[in-house]
Amino acid sequence: MAKSNSKVSRLGTKSTNREEEFSATSSVLGKKMVEFPAIKNPPVAGPARVISVVNQKGGVGKTTTTINLGAALAELGRRVLLIDFDSQASMTTGLGIKPLQIKEQYGSIWYLLNDSSANISEFILKSNVPGLDFIRGHKDLAAADAAFVSELAKEHKLRKLLEPVLDEYDDILIDCSPSLGTLTINALTASDGVLIPMECEYFAVLGLGLVRETIDKVRTNTNPQLQIDGILATMFERKTAHSREVLELIYKEFPDDLLDTIIARTVRFSESTVKGEPITTYASSSTGAVSYRRLARELIYRGGAK
Ligand SMILES: Nc1ncnc2c1ncn2[C@@H]1O[C@H](COP(=O)(O)OP(=O)(O)O)[C@@H](O)[C@H]1O
Ligand SMILES: [Mg+2]
Repeated sequence: MAKSNSKVSRLGTKSTNREEEFSATSSVLGKKMVEFPAIKNPPVAGPARVISVVNQKGGVGKTTTTINLGAALAELGRRVLLIDFDSQASMTTGLGIKPLQIKEQYGSIWYLLNDSSANISEFILKSNVPGLDFIRGHKDLAAADAAFVSELAKEHKLRKLLEPVLDEYDDILIDCSPSLGTLTINALTASDGVLIPMECEYFAVLGLGLVRETIDKVRTNTNPQLQIDGILATMFERKTAHSREVLELIYKEFPDDLLDTIIARTVRFSESTVKGEPITTYASSSTGAVSYRRLARELIYRGGAK
């Protein structure tokens, strides 16, 4: 048979030779690769499951994960709402909204937090992916710590404002800011679960302790039901021993929380951000898209998503 430039991976999707190859925790750790079942059933009925995507470190893949996990869940027929809860509003731009359009406070999650008479349904925008909606961010979210300091029940503000739309969605994902301040506490108080993207770098492992302390604090004070849906290894580099060592270290410390799906480092993510669309539509058969689809199936399988 003639040699071709592209090959079919174990997952049955085409990838070019330039692409980072698909890896999973199980295969990297020398175990049999786990297979997650195809999703045939509709989501469980009832209110949306709310998931915060959290890590106090910036640049670890929170926003990328929120957008692409959301898009992958929508592809599976889930009704998904994304909330941009970061003052940098990179999720909003990553979904194709131009910087000029996000200058207005009105229309943003920040406005909703400050005006309890505003109607959340009017603030929901449609992305280019059917079933994937979002509420945009605003730079003034950065003022939340100071603005809410003396408010009663300030930790419950987001939970309260999401209540009217919980029945309209299956999954709601909150893209958190790189801090563990008022906004992230609000997100965790509003959530059923938390997903922690973690760059495969040694120092990132040290930071995990802080995230877990915050989760414990929220469980004690505002949300005893909060679950850890998983730690997602991101920016994985198959060819470096360092990435594998970090993965082994996380697995040793958190064997139950480390997800099998790994997101490899690939330039495709930055490209899709510039395009203002998820990688699942920008480069549908790329390793990155395949990995986020697998993450969606893994989370549904584990009960971390509907
Ligand atoms: N797996 C990946 N490989 C390569 N680049 C990535 C990957 N995930 C995200 N990026 C890029 O890294 C930068 C930071 O990612 P982002 O999702 O914005 O992180 P965070 O929200 O944690 O700050 C962005 O430019 C994004 O396109
Ligand atoms: Mg971000």
